[in-house]
Amino acid sequence: MKFFIDTANLNEIKEAYELGVLDGVTTNPSLMAKEGIKGEENVRAHYKAICDIVDNNVSAEVIATDFDNIIKEGKELAKIDDKIVVKVPMIKDGIKAIKYFSSMDIRTNCTLVFSAGQALLAAKAGASYVSPFIGRLDDISTDGLTLIEDIIRIYDNYAYETEVLAASVRHTMHLLECANMGADVVTCPLNVITALLNHPLTDSGLAKFLADHKKVNS
Ligand code: E4P
Repeated sequence: MKFFIDTANLNEIKEAYELGVLDGVTTNPSLMAKEGIKGEENVRAHYKAICDIVDNNVSAEVIATDFDNIIKEGKELAKIDDKIVVKVPMIKDGIKAIKYFSSMDIRTNCTLVFSAGQALLAAKAGASYVSPFIGRLDDISTDGLTLIEDIIRIYDNYAYETEVLAASVRHTMHLLECANMGADVVTCPLNVITALLNHPLTDSGLAKFLADHKKVNS
């Protein structure tokens, strides 16, 4: 399973990368705004800075919503670095654009996916990744994890190559359930990844090992 970090914060990306388990980064316009990144040049420079930290897979989202401008913006984003994956919203012109990008060998991440039907369309258009949002479905009393399960089954039925990128992952149980189901990727904040480290028996076990060692070595 690939781990992506869902942030535009360079320090968090560095910290996750240094842990040695990071496979990529997803950003979105809200995450860029949270870091105060504005203006075309600054946005591009920021994407480049992210690409310089990680080995691959940096999702950069288009702002355009019509076909011609999605294509124009996506091509410009893809030029920033080979690691860029163009993130395109699940709308009619987005699907057309994903089909076009796929024919140009430009990798895409189809975002804002909330149903199995949308995920099926993204795969048929040739998206490299599909991003179903678990947490936002849970927020409206709909089981986000069931959607992940459905998409994995549908993709397996037809051997689609589109990777299931579970997004809007809010806590470790989301992540672990996705792993159980065989999602290809999860994207989540850094604290969800680091929370996987914790277990009280690890802490107490380590304290005992160190104490016993000290007893005979001091
Ligand atoms: C996915 O690529 C999105 O950036 C993200 O996972 C959305 O998460 P949120 O619902 O916690 O904002």
